[in-house]
Amino acid sequence: MKGKSMFYCTECGNETAKWAGRCPACGAWNTIVEQPQGAVGTGKGKKSTGSGKRLGRIVKAIPLTEIETEEELRFSTGMGELDRVLGGGAVKGSLVLVGGAPGIGKSTLMLQICQTLCDFAKVLYISGEESVGQLKMRARRLGVVGEKLYVLSETDLDDVLEAVEQERPDILIIDSIQTLYNSTLDSAPGSVGQVKDCTLKLMELAKGEGVTVFVIGHVNKEGSIAGPKVLEHMVDCVLYFEGDQHMSYRILRAAKNRFGATNEIGVFEMQGDGLAEVENPSQMLLSGRPEDAPGTCVTCVMEGNRPVLAEIQALLAPTSFSVPRRSSNGFDYNRAAMLIAVLEKRGGLKVSVCDSYLNIIGGLSLDEPAADLAAILALASSYLDQSVSGDLAAIGEVGLTGELRSVDQLSQRLSEVHRLGFRRCVIPKRHRQKLGTFENLQLIEVSNIGEAIRAVLGK
Ligand code: TYD
Ligand code: MG
Repeated sequence: MKGKSMFYCTECGNETAKWAGRCPACGAWNTIVEQPQGAVGTGKGKKSTGSGKRLGRIVKAIPLTEIETEEELRFSTGMGELDRVLGGGAVKGSLVLVGGAPGIGKSTLMLQICQTLCDFAKVLYISGEESVGQLKMRARRLGVVGEKLYVLSETDLDDVLEAVEQERPDILIIDSIQTLYNSTLDSAPGSVGQVKDCTLKLMELAKGEGVTVFVIGHVNKEGSIAGPKVLEHMVDCVLYFEGDQHMSYRILRAAKNRFGATNEIGVFEMQGDGLAEVENPSQMLLSGRPEDAPGTCVTCVMEGNRPVLAEIQALLAPTSFSVPRRSSNGFDYNRAAMLIAVLEKRGGLKVSVCDSYLNIIGGLSLDEPAADLAAILALASSYLDQSVSGDLAAIGEVGLTGELRSVDQLSQRLSEVHRLGFRRCVIPKRHRQKLGTFENLQLIEVSNIGEAIRAVLGK
């Protein structure tokens, strides 16, 4: 029977019966693609094998208290920053998806961790993108030598499973999920059906045989291939590797983690011989900061348990449009618009007639209200064309009446500000915590943005 077509969103994997210009689930434009029914891994054929297996099996739920388990087995990947994002090392038998734009360094990261993994495990690295010769060259460049590292250049899922059967690795790395395909389906490699089906098979491998699987997935803006978003619900862990391709810094963050928190970030630097861990991200993010230039202010945000200093830059310029332009990069757009309104109404600065640009340096994205005050000060500094002193940082949430509100973990943030040699820090007057004393760090307590602007910019 000729199956009816289904339609899928390449961004979020949502299924619909008919095509639409915009995905009803995630709202992305032009991401719906057609997928013949027969070609989708969740089709009829699969259901019958499922029910076939059930014959003779008794379905019975058991009380949770009667289930005995051991602690999940974790191992270190040899990269502290990656372990941190995974929640303290990789879990045996889990499936980790590493997503990111092409060229960001996913293959490099995976090949680099092989060096440590090979010490205690057998690793099979399957590349559908590079020949074994290219892999060898890359490994040599990265200084990866390991007897227990096996490589294979293959894209057919059956052959990959066959190789796994033969080699019985402890750890399997798939580079990338978009090049892998199941020849029994008629859709093209990289399509939603293929990507889902291949991931399902790899998931069975992970859960059934206890193989730890790392899967690389490209994030593709054009939407012609299925991105890792489609797979997020299936896998145990989703890590995204981000960063500006023109800059050497890379940030790894967890979007999902069945075995740990998702608020940690790992910071790396791409060097000539591979990725190096950055243990002091604050220093990295502040390097190259212009001293004494108007429109910049430093704040401290919490990335998981780690305080990280970030530089906020703002530019306000008289607009030549009837509606001023607003742009923000790494800072929530609506929050920025709110802060601009508060600055106008409560700070008394005529900023609404200006185009405004807000940018967070280093590819960081700030989603904490604690960064509000620094954003306000950067905006005011740009407007008044007067610089915030280079040894000053600012922490605090700003409310709609222009009041400063206290933030969590203030003393940890202050320690980081202190550690990086700042001399002054503006904080909310009403803070809930008892703060320690920091030598050579003067705390300037203010209760609203007017006071903050006067204290910092003298206006
Ligand atoms: P790669 O890991 O191939 O990216 P992905 O697998 O995410 O597509 O990384 C490619 C980029 O990294 C490439 O542009 C060159 C750069 N690079 C270095 O700067 N140093 C290195 O040692 C390596 C291996 C790559
Ligand atoms: Mg690659």
